[in-house]
Amino acid sequence: MRKYLLIFVAVFLSMSATAQKFDQLAKTPPMGWNSWNKFHCDVSEALIMQAADAMISSGMKGAGYEYIVIDDCWQISRDENGEIVPDKDRFPHGMKYVADYVHSKGLKFGIYSSAGTVTCQRRPGGFGHEYQDARTYARYGVDYLKYDWCGSTTQDAKSSYTNMSSAIKAAGRPIVFSICEWGSNKPWEWAANVGHLWRTTGDISDNWNSMIDIFNKQKDLARYAGPGKWNDPDMLEVGNGGMTTEEYRTHFSLWCMLASPLMAGNDLQKMTPETKSILLNKEMIAIDQDSLGRQATCYRDNGNYQIWVKTLSNNEKAVCLLNTSDEKKSVLVDFSLLASIRGGGRGFGGPMPPAPAGGVPGMPGAQGAAAQGVPPAGLGAPAAGQGVPPAGQGMPGGMGPGGPGGQRGFTPLTLENYKVRDIWEQKDLVLKETSMYVELLPHAVKVYRFVRK
Ligand code: GLA
Repeated sequence: MRKYLLIFVAVFLSMSATAQKFDQLAKTPPMGWNSWNKFHCDVSEALIMQAADAMISSGMKGAGYEYIVIDDCWQISRDENGEIVPDKDRFPHGMKYVADYVHSKGLKFGIYSSAGTVTCQRRPGGFGHEYQDARTYARYGVDYLKYDWCGSTTQDAKSSYTNMSSAIKAAGRPIVFSICEWGSNKPWEWAANVGHLWRTTGDISDNWNSMIDIFNKQKDLARYAGPGKWNDPDMLEVGNGGMTTEEYRTHFSLWCMLASPLMAGNDLQKMTPETKSILLNKEMIAIDQDSLGRQATCYRDNGNYQIWVKTLSNNEKAVCLLNTSDEKKSVLVDFSLLASIRGGGRGFGGPMPPAPAGGVPGMPGAQGAAAQGVPPAGLGAPAAGQGVPPAGQGMPGGMGPGGPGGQRGFTPLTLENYKVRDIWEQKDLVLKETSMYVELLPHAVKVYRFVRK
């Protein structure tokens, strides 16, 4: 009896040590705008209010973006009671005034701090003030808190973020908690009950190498994402000038395939038609925001040519062909095979098996490659757990066991059940054959949605 009592107490204590975050938030990846990528420390009341206005006039709000987040440098000191003090020169009316304005536009308001003693720009951090700051943020009307990891020295990451999560809960205002410790302590393994999203890497820069490097680091993380708990590969650079339009389209597509938070980081008041055509592509956004909340997994990795699959609700899926090379590629795509594959579920996302020796038939660079007219099966062997059911062994009525890492209720579908939509061309494919050559520009993607007929 005593033994059971001890087990009960231990279980109870371990449960109470786990923060109970507000769990009805961020059921789909948060969408919004953050000041950092474009403006760094040059933030002010006017800038934030103009960003809120531009969020509406640019069509961003209409497309689903809702959070206006002020990053570092809004704060300047603490007063004699330990209260955080906003920079009076830049925010003369204080933060509640800004939050009220953002709310009056039907948008939500976000703010930034750090779990350490200082932020990354050496402004006061939250360490030792967690409960006090959470109450202050609730009073301001904060809806989203990005919590950085600068100034943390010897702190334990899980305890530090759990502490702030509990403080937010205690303050009583539902606030999306965005953990920003750069993936240093594998937050995907412990943060699902602590925050709603967690950075997986260091900071993005506005160039192709930085973006694609971060993307490549997301491969093994799909299993950790889902409604209310998202891997965050950092904010968007679309529209900031350091990449080509094609590369920005790729950046945005990959983030949507990953079910990433979509935090625009550009100047919303000066959006070119190209930038708008990317950030406002509603069909691409719908893939990101799909209610199932699945992160894409890599179906085939042939180095600089990859195929990613994101399972969507209604047994639909998005498929992204990615050319990371500096050369144009022509690939033979078997849409019938793509229609029948399973997208990655929660059980997927482990390391990819290596491509077979000699290359994968039908993949550029392989012997007997697509350009030489390989038959449709040429898309190559699927990765573990993501395959087409063996011929004649389909799962009747969609009630198959799913297999290791598989999805229960998966119904293998054929092109008869689907139409194939090209998301950037915004039109349905007219398929004369089930296979078709597809041209991929350098650093470009093709994104297809398999839509149930
Ligand atoms: C860190 C974060 C960035 C940004 C800056 C602000 O580098 O990772 O996203 O918030 O701090 O100083």
